Amino acid sequence: MVKAVVLGAAGGIGQPLSLLLKTNPLITQLGLFDIVNTPGVAADLSHIATPSVVVGRLPPNDGLKEVLTGADLVVIPAGVPRKPGMTRDDLFKINAGIVKDLATGIATVAPKAFVLVISNPVNSTVPIVAEVFKKHGVYDPKRIFGVTTLDVVRASTFVAEVLGKPAEAPNVVVPVIGGHSGVTIVPLLSQSTHALPSDISADAYAALVKRIQFGGDEVVKAKDGAGSATLSMAYAGYEFSTKIIRALKGEKGIIAPSYVSLKADPAGGSALAAELGTELEFFSSNVELGTEGVVKIHSLGKLTAQEQELVKAAIPELQTNIKTGVTFVAEKY
Ligand code: NAD
Ligand code: LMR
Repeated sequence: MVKAVVLGAAGGIGQPLSLLLKTNPLITQLGLFDIVNTPGVAADLSHIATPSVVVGRLPPNDGLKEVLTGADLVVIPAGVPRKPGMTRDDLFKINAGIVKDLATGIATVAPKAFVLVISNPVNSTVPIVAEVFKKHGVYDPKRIFGVTTLDVVRASTFVAEVLGKPAEAPNVVVPVIGGHSGVTIVPLLSQSTHALPSDISADAYAALVKRIQFGGDEVVKAKDGAGSATLSMAYAGYEFSTKIIRALKGEKGIIAPSYVSLKADPAGGSALAAELGTELEFFSSNVELGTEGVVKIHSLGKLTAQEQELVKAAIPELQTNIKTGVTFVAEKY
């Protein structure tokens, strides 16, 4: 029995993500919450002949509480998306409050659920969830995840494109570490399963790194005011959710990249902190998953000089983003 819940289920990401979750035979209950339209989305999905029973609720009459009761995993794509000219940090003003309120609901009703945060800016919204859980005395760093899978999906696609082998994209795996915005997105191309051409020019290499870091901007620009990535994000969110569900079900050795607290690691992330040369509360790296959440945070491995520079550039921005989230809860709670 697995209950999956989507908060923000009527949105651009929420609807296709809910559809994908409805197709998963391991899910027995699917709870959908949004401030609009969830009864309609739930009625629509409920006609699909897969095992899960779908319930859609709105805020009145304890809708959030009802949906969250018994949740094993809660995915949060609630909040406003970017328009051209905006950074993800520009979303903080609105999304911080939304995520704080939803996190309060989860901490109260389903404190043991795995929480998967999609709402931007992820670098700050994940610390918000963590701080809210701390306030409620239910914080378990092993169960709170920032979803950075889209960066990894993009890296696979763009590397396959550079190699001129689009059909290989599903097999290309590139670790992407750091966080989820601009320079905090650090692709480790030297560790790609598929090596780049040995004669790749410095310009082409730099362009590839930049494309992975700023792939979200491409979509925001193309949508021209109608939002940001939704379909590719639903795909990525589903991919990560599936790994979480498989781990919950007891499958061993599942590894997924995610933005998590270093405290989620049994050794407190000390190996990673040593590699980074600094104390950072949250960082995205490959994470091994188990029935209780994070089992181990993988270290970064051997980085090239260029990759070390990218990590160095990411750290101060991550520190600022984390502090913004932590301070918000300290001041508004
Ligand atoms: P959207 O506007 O289409 O959908 C957001 C949904 O959230 C809407 O249906 C809205 O009604 C709902 N919502 C707002 N306040 C709510 C609340 N208090 N409780 C429940 N639901 C609420 O936006 P979208 O395109 O789906 O994007 C959602 C978020 O995901 C944005 O912040 C966006 O930046 C982010 N995002 C993250 C990634 C990532 O890689 N992590 C990728 C793409 C988008
Ligand atoms: C993305 O990477 O596509 C998302 O974070 C949405 C955005 O604002 O770019």
